[in-house]
Amino acid sequence: MINYELDGKVAVVTGGASGIGKACAHAFARSGADVSIWDLNQSALDAAADELKQHGHRVHTAIVDVSDSRAVDTAMEGVVGELGKVDIVVANAGIGGDISPSGDYSDEGWHKVIGINLDGVMYTQRAAIRAMKKSGGGSIINMASILGSVGFAMSSAYVAAKHGVVGMTKAAAWEHAGDNIRVNAVGPAFIKTPLVEKSLDAQTLKFLESQHALNRLGTPEEVGELVAWLASDAASFATGAYWAIDGGYLAR
Ligand SMILES: NC(=O)c1ccc[n+]([C@@H]2O[C@H](COP(=O)([O-])OP(=O)(O)OC[C@H]3O[C@@H](n4cnc5c(N)ncnc54)[C@H](O)[C@@H]3O)[C@@H](O)[C@H]2O)c1
Repeated sequence: MINYELDGKVAVVTGGASGIGKACAHAFARSGADVSIWDLNQSALDAAADELKQHGHRVHTAIVDVSDSRAVDTAMEGVVGELGKVDIVVANAGIGGDISPSGDYSDEGWHKVIGINLDGVMYTQRAAIRAMKKSGGGSIINMASILGSVGFAMSSAYVAAKHGVVGMTKAAAWEHAGDNIRVNAVGPAFIKTPLVEKSLDAQTLKFLESQHALNRLGTPEEVGELVAWLASDAASFATGAYWAIDGGYLAR
């Protein structure tokens, strides 16, 4: 396992109690960082925190619905109060949303996905920028998807939100390079997490595997490696970019 040399850094991961977010938190803690994981449910947060403490660094948890901007601001202030500063933020919390054609997509379903997957990333990124400006800079990683660069049937809200995440990442990178803040977007293909495994049947999963050149889904840990590199000083020239990690999905 690679150590990304994050000693003394403080990392925040939204949606950090499960899947990709939890894997990112492990890669950070394993590399020496203190971590704050945010999620909706205290028992899931406690279980993830118990695992993360095995790396020997401080672990902070917060119940935060990222679609609530005030909750996000309060939680970011809480991390600074508890852990002293914020160096790394992964705006990862997200949902799949309704599966429906664009012509039938409901207002409620649309606003739910946009509220979490787009507004939630904007609120998290904004709070991160404000905190990082006070401590001299940092690295923000916004969790997009391959569906931040190509379309996918029956998921218009998700596809729109992820394309929006890529756009806001590029704008913020230009705006805050002078504050020593790097901002990148990560685009995983289909990854074996509860989000995918809960919502798709075995036949669909098999089909999706075949859509990757590597003929399998990715693991959360494989995404965590890219995110940890982007968070680290080794990625000092990386900003404003969309980083696909997709087993070859987009290579067609
Ligand atoms: N799994 C995939 O195939 C895949 C592919 C590309 C991108 N992504 C993205 O990666 C991110 C993580 O997904 P995952 O697959 O690990 O899913 P997951 O369901 O395993 O984890 C997501 C976590 O986010 C939390 N969450 C949901 N809504 C929240 C909210 N409003 N506020 C705070 N936390 C909230 C959930 O409770 C959960 O713990 C999402 O943004 C998702 O869109 C996933």
